[in-house]
Amino acid sequence: MRERIIAGNWKMNTTLQEGVELAHSIIQAVKGIDDVTVVICPPATHLSAVGEVIKGSSVGLGAQNVHWEEKGAFTGEISPLMLEEFGCRWVIIGHSERRFWFGETDKIVNHRLRRALKSGIRPIVCIGETLEEMESGRAYTVIEAQLKGSLDEVQLTGRGSVVIAYEPVWAIGTGRNATPGEAQEAHSFIRKMLTMMYDKETAENTVIQYGGSVNEKNAAELMACEDVDGGLIGGASLSVDKFSTIVRAASSTS
Ligand code: PGA
Repeated sequence: MRERIIAGNWKMNTTLQEGVELAHSIIQAVKGIDDVTVVICPPATHLSAVGEVIKGSSVGLGAQNVHWEEKGAFTGEISPLMLEEFGCRWVIIGHSERRFWFGETDKIVNHRLRRALKSGIRPIVCIGETLEEMESGRAYTVIEAQLKGSLDEVQLTGRGSVVIAYEPVWAIGTGRNATPGEAQEAHSFIRKMLTMMYDKETAENTVIQYGGSVNEKNAAELMACEDVDGGLIGGASLSVDKFSTIVRAASSTS
């Protein structure tokens, strides 16, 4: 059975104190759910304090960005060595907000991804089409190009390796999630692409998360899709009740 991963992307939200409290509450709320890997990705300024809170718990710590160099003149960036110091084992790469607001390309995503892997930080790589791309029938062409560009020269091993997050941009923060049918179709396409780019076993073992307006109400039916192996959660990850309900929806014991 494939691994299931629910990651909370806090984006640029919470004060330090709110973040610490949220982390405390999440640890308590997901205690005992051992068939879902739970990761929280606070803002970089909170990594140290939140890292202390979750130390020794089952919850993993993730960053929202990582640079491809270890140090140097890269104002505003964060190095993999710095993330390691915080005990950060996960990182979100290529989120559509980074692509849109900061012009990140697949090439940049690929650089970050390769460095993360080299540093032993597990990457969650985001791909997904915009509304315009979807409406003009180009969604799968875009997904294919993003997959190939982001994973260029990257060895995938499936289990324990790169996580793909399919996040249709039109669903992020809009309250309009993909239907389970749409999500399943896209995930199955991504798995087919991975089979072509790597091999069947690698594709079968790769975790593909869905992201985009996942909430406590729609999580169960999305997580029930054959090729949906968890979620990347934005807005709902800021509420302990909503987030833990989503984690439970991903658990086979729910
Ligand atoms: P959302 O964000 O759940 O608020 O739509 C998801 C994401 O951006 O990862």
